[in-house]
Amino acid sequence: MAFLFVHEDREYLLSPGERLETDLGVLEVPSDVSPGETVETHLGTAFIARKLRLPDLFHHLDRTGAPMMPRDVGLVLGLTGVATGDRVLDAGTGTGILAIAMARTGAEVLSFEVDAEFAEIARQNTDVAGVTDRVEVRTGDVTEHLGGHDPFDALTLDTADAAAVIERAPDLLTPGGFAAVYSPFVEDSRTVVETARDVGLVDVESRETIQREMDFDDRGSRPSTRGVGHTGYLTIARRP
Ligand SMILES: C[S@@+](CC[C@H](N)C(=O)[O-])C[C@H]1O[C@@H](n2cnc3c(N)ncnc32)[C@H](O)[C@@H]1O
Repeated sequence: MAFLFVHEDREYLLSPGERLETDLGVLEVPSDVSPGETVETHLGTAFIARKLRLPDLFHHLDRTGAPMMPRDVGLVLGLTGVATGDRVLDAGTGTGILAIAMARTGAEVLSFEVDAEFAEIARQNTDVAGVTDRVEVRTGDVTEHLGGHDPFDALTLDTADAAAVIERAPDLLTPGGFAAVYSPFVEDSRTVVETARDVGLVDVESRETIQREMDFDDRGSRPSTRGVGHTGYLTIARRP
């Protein structure tokens, strides 16, 4: 498990025993470092070791596919209730942010990633996040690996072909289990909603995941005029 080493606006993600050369000096991380400890570079600059939390992982893990935004991760967790002891089928792994967030709640996650290089990076990311015991990243197209599983408590899908998995959701989910599908395009969301209804899933809801930051300055207060307007649509459905 890695830590975040922080000095003013500098942040470095480093594992125990790692060595980093910076313009502030060489930082050698002791193998028994613990959170809250101060480690000095050979030039005397102090870095504080911080335990990694999900927003740190979002900012510092090696990225492949666009990682799910923390607010959308929050919606998936809040709307599916994924929790300790649950088994989740996830695809595609991408950077692994969603899989890692679910594992950090105590869930067991089986995640498929079709791109072998992405899958390897995601495995390294689960190691950095300290959840290798609860996330298994398998290389492969999830739609070709839907047979032979014990039922899952949740399906979390962040792929363009999610509808092909939703078609099989009645067999893949435990009674009352949730499916959550994240899609950047409304056409994919519509296909997922129609498929979910066709196969008899219930409580089918789709929403755009909008969030507006606020600006507070001397002139007044208003929603920010900067930043991303749209990230995606989240569809939730449930096995009866
Ligand atoms: C948007 S990213 C997923 C991001 C991820 N949810 C996260 O939080 O980091 C989509 C990923 O799905 C993978 N993918 C697309 N179709 C797939 C499929 N049928 N099976 C497995 N992986 C797939 C892509 O290679 C890509 O890495």
